[in-house]
Amino acid sequence: MTGAEARVSTSSTGGTGDFWWGAATASYQVEGAVDEDGRGPSIWDTFSAEPGRIADGSSGAVACDSYHRWREDLDLLSGLGANAYRFSIAWPRVQPTGSGQVNAAGLAYYDRLVDGLLARSIAPFATLFHWDLPQPLQDAGGWIVRDTAQRFAEYAAVIAEALGDRVAAWGTLNEPFVHMALGYAFGSHAPGETLLLDAFAAGHHQLLGHGLATQALRAGSRQGSTGGWGSTGGRGSTGGQGSTGSPPVMLVNNLTPVRAASPSTEDAAAAAVYDAFHNRMFLDTVLRGTYPDELADAAERVVHDGDLATIAQPLDLLGVNYYNPTLVRAPGPDNPLPFELVPIEGYPLTGFGWPVVPEGLTDLLTGLRQTYGEALPPVVVTENGCSYPDEPGPDGTVDDAARIAYLDRHIAAVGAAREAGVDVRGYLAWSLLDNFEWAEGYTQRFGITRVDFATGERTPKASYEWFRERIARGW
Ligand code: BGC
Repeated sequence: MTGAEARVSTSSTGGTGDFWWGAATASYQVEGAVDEDGRGPSIWDTFSAEPGRIADGSSGAVACDSYHRWREDLDLLSGLGANAYRFSIAWPRVQPTGSGQVNAAGLAYYDRLVDGLLARSIAPFATLFHWDLPQPLQDAGGWIVRDTAQRFAEYAAVIAEALGDRVAAWGTLNEPFVHMALGYAFGSHAPGETLLLDAFAAGHHQLLGHGLATQALRAGSRQGSTGGWGSTGGRGSTGGQGSTGSPPVMLVNNLTPVRAASPSTEDAAAAAVYDAFHNRMFLDTVLRGTYPDELADAAERVVHDGDLATIAQPLDLLGVNYYNPTLVRAPGPDNPLPFELVPIEGYPLTGFGWPVVPEGLTDLLTGLRQTYGEALPPVVVTENGCSYPDEPGPDGTVDDAARIAYLDRHIAAVGAAREAGVDVRGYLAWSLLDNFEWAEGYTQRFGITRVDFATGERTPKASYEWFRERIARGW
């Protein structure tokens, strides 16, 4: 595609107005084709192959086969009236061993994807790391070792050079808290480490990688001359830092409003510690250049002089993934952790058993504004959604009324936060497709589109039709 063809303008986004509406996916969850075109192994290939790790014994080897069916996926986004798509780039496709040699065939897939989005006037939101670390980097210690941050920055430079003329926004990491907690502290996700509080190092090195990658993305992205997204000056005008016209850079965090299970001082203290690990570790660092006091001891063991300055690169956007609030109490005597999580009662539950608390999203967004004030960049809700065991009816349609209610109420919660003065620029539903739900395999369906995993066939659910109308209405 030529630059001129790739050129899109904000005015072509129709009724969506000045807001990003769309959906999100992640490479290992949708692409499949794990052995194709020179892709190297990732920690999720290794982890899924270990007996007992994945609920249904499956893996992402085929998943939604988006590596081959990406045109259909992009057409689904077009049909939705979406003006943004958040996808992730598989590091092991681009650098099969995690460093050095670049695999042109792997990179070419993302080239096609980005051009396909631009041709449909959909803004590419590219996340560089959504948990599929190249296995050779894990063999060298993964995010527990500092060197992985440097490798991540080198990979970011490769991506910036290849796609930096056309993407609308960069996401460095997806949910560093969840990767640290489930991957390194508790072992229910790849790489399956059970280091408990020593997993802190994996969080810190991801943050360091974020800072270094942000610098690399800004140094290496060249917009403004080739007719890509940024040349419209439209959506890129979120206050991007790069004088070269780099696309805006964001960190994507999983955030949760933390509540204490009782007014006791013990429960309040435990809630503060949990909040420090889950939320503030990944906000105070990037927005203020400090670690929360509760984490001072852990930080002392891992943080080097100058790290926080690197981590606190100005952010253009903050990506917020919201699923539910968290209730915390003081730990029991046998608990090695300084907190304990308690099920939240009194709310409906999703298929995953997660409480549906839309007002938690308003609280979260307004709380961010209160806590960080002017330091808070504009926010994009980069994931929000729910799994339900929805099945097609006799006519093949999927009537997922519970998902419609979920999306409706959460979008309204975003509206309430906007009315309260929070600068929210987008809402991306999780997920465009039913996909490989990590340790749950294919047992949890989050899609607004049903995927028949035997055939790859896609069927838009009732929630897809509903979301199309909702997008068309705008704010
Ligand atoms: C992740 C997604 C995941 C979703 C639902 C988020 O934590 O970014 O990859 O599928 O939640 O569990």
